[in-house]
Amino acid sequence: MGKEKFIVTSALPYANGPIHLGHLSGAYLPADIFVRYKRLTGADILYICGSDEHGVPITITADKEKITPQEVIDRFHNSNKNAFEKFGMSFDIYSRTSLPIHHETAQTFFKSYHTQGLLTEQKSLQFYDEKAKMFLPDRYVEGTCPKCGYEEARSDECEKCGSLYDPKELVNPKSKISGESPKLKETSHWFFPLGKFQERLKKYVDEQNKKFNWKDNVAAYCKGWFKDGLKDRAVTRDLDWGVKVPLENADGKALYVWFEAVLGYISATKELFAKRGEDDEWKKYWQDENTRYIAFIGKDNVVFHTIIFPAMLMAWNDGNKEKFLLPENVPANEFLNFEGKKFSKSRGWGIDVEEFLNLFPADSLRYALASNLPENKDTDFYWKEFQLKNNSELADIFGNFINRTFTFAHKHFNGQVPELGQLKPIDNEMIQFLNDAPQKIGNLLDTYHVKDAVFEIMNVARAGNKYFNDSEPWKSIKTSKEECGTTINICLQTIFTLAELFEPVIPFSSRKIFLMLNTRAVKWSESGKMNLNSGHKIGDAYILFTKIEDAVIETQISKLGVTNEIAEYNPVQIDYEQFQKIDLRVAKVLSAENIKKSNKLLKLEVESVGGKRQIIAGIAKHYKPEDIVGKRVVIVANLKPAKLFGLESEGMVLAAEDKNGKLELVSLSDEIATASKVK
Ligand code: 2FM
Ligand code: ZN
Repeated sequence: MGKEKFIVTSALPYANGPIHLGHLSGAYLPADIFVRYKRLTGADILYICGSDEHGVPITITADKEKITPQEVIDRFHNSNKNAFEKFGMSFDIYSRTSLPIHHETAQTFFKSYHTQGLLTEQKSLQFYDEKAKMFLPDRYVEGTCPKCGYEEARSDECEKCGSLYDPKELVNPKSKISGESPKLKETSHWFFPLGKFQERLKKYVDEQNKKFNWKDNVAAYCKGWFKDGLKDRAVTRDLDWGVKVPLENADGKALYVWFEAVLGYISATKELFAKRGEDDEWKKYWQDENTRYIAFIGKDNVVFHTIIFPAMLMAWNDGNKEKFLLPENVPANEFLNFEGKKFSKSRGWGIDVEEFLNLFPADSLRYALASNLPENKDTDFYWKEFQLKNNSELADIFGNFINRTFTFAHKHFNGQVPELGQLKPIDNEMIQFLNDAPQKIGNLLDTYHVKDAVFEIMNVARAGNKYFNDSEPWKSIKTSKEECGTTINICLQTIFTLAELFEPVIPFSSRKIFLMLNTRAVKWSESGKMNLNSGHKIGDAYILFTKIEDAVIETQISKLGVTNEIAEYNPVQIDYEQFQKIDLRVAKVLSAENIKKSNKLLKLEVESVGGKRQIIAGIAKHYKPEDIVGKRVVIVANLKPAKLFGLESEGMVLAAEDKNGKLELVSLSDEIATASKVK
């Protein structure tokens, strides 16, 4: 049998912000572990990634910061590339979709669909923001659902009641970009006939699932989409930033970002070989049916990799002589949360990869994340758990085992691998255990059970420690040097095996251990054998893992939820007279009730300066009416009355937002008299 041949891709992250630990756990670390493992087995494998540099959010960041989209992507492409490097990602190439080679590739695919007569041009009405001068993608329009009155409904779909409607039915639409109410304007787009591919896609997914045992979550998503029926999709947008639609009369139109980003895997491979001066070599991977293509992603990207990308490849293959491969497997992970909540840059919740790696070694993070991957369900990163993984597992189990073995070898055996003497049952058991480990762990990695594999690798270190303890070399050194030598020989072989098995997970430490052993890795399948000859000279021991102090972890925990707002404060200043004009008063809430058709507002009756008054407050999502009756709150008493939902509101209650966006009213104890001034 020839070499196994692979293409492995990880989702191309948007160059619109820094990557965080959640990204690493979803699509990057598991793929890197898989790739490193496969390389050690001798496979011919390409690992492809790069930045996804198109799409509306990048243009919005640029507008906000008054810089160009190119500046946005340059910044984040470079910083994410660096972060990945520091983290030890072993991409063969980290490309970017803004490169000409990608634009040409994407346009070639589009043109092929067009000449095959697959694309249809359809006119539709879309929201246009006159202030921002742009058509608004669905997620940038919000309004009231015409069916149930939900106030945060999307342009054509309400996530509360699930109804679909025509955008013109949306009540009170607002642009999330300018806040203005957008107009519906006619535009025309090209549609890809996804529906036509439904049967073939279903067959493809079923077959791959059966043959390669797709993950349950991925299979379930696919099943859901097939059941709903695949609909034709617009694959162009009115946008200047992106891959231009390669047709006449298509000014101002770009390919929908997803319709080209997935092709970025192919263009990145082309770039890799072009750089090596082997222009057509990429075809030997993408266009050879013996290549196995594995696409690592997070769960939010499943539809694009199991339905849309395969359909695009099928459509290309229908009209062209040179045929592309489809993904063999799409091992999507769920999400990693941070200390019980979603990562949120704006709320200061989570930590960027670069920042993390300025504080802690990459391998500590790799190990902690790898042993807690969200393979079947969402998981959480906890600082304390990170500390525990580092201190009690890497340092206490693995590091300690290496350390005590090396100390013994240097002190009693002149820094050489001792002879293997007469083997006792305990020795034979350990040798057998080592011999079996690579295949057992390889099987887990072959089936994307990375978390279990990592557990089994640490078990080899656990077994090593136990073997050391049970063999009591500190005793045998006094009675039989041969017996002691046997123990230390087997412990050194165990360290060799561990250096290899751990290479995919903690590559930086693995390299150091091979240096310490004064040798290098072998083929994975050989790594459990007795690879060190007796008499082989080993090197000095390095400190591999340093313990992390409580105080260091506490500092990180205390930083949670602290946003830039604390550090950066450039307010419009007011003088004392201006402040005095605001009449803040204590008010007692007499009654509170929900307002029909609004899930945001509560109608309050309060007593304060001047007697009773009515205030309409936007707190319905955070307080039940019965929870605030009787509370003493602070109001702006001299605010001009306004009408909200047709109801008069005389004043405003003060509240502040917590880390999760939940509002908490500013309130006072019963000791404070109603109508007192707040100064
Ligand atoms: O979710 C994301 O970050 C997307 N940029 C992933 C794209 S994957 C593929 F299409 F390139
Ligand atoms: Zn609704």
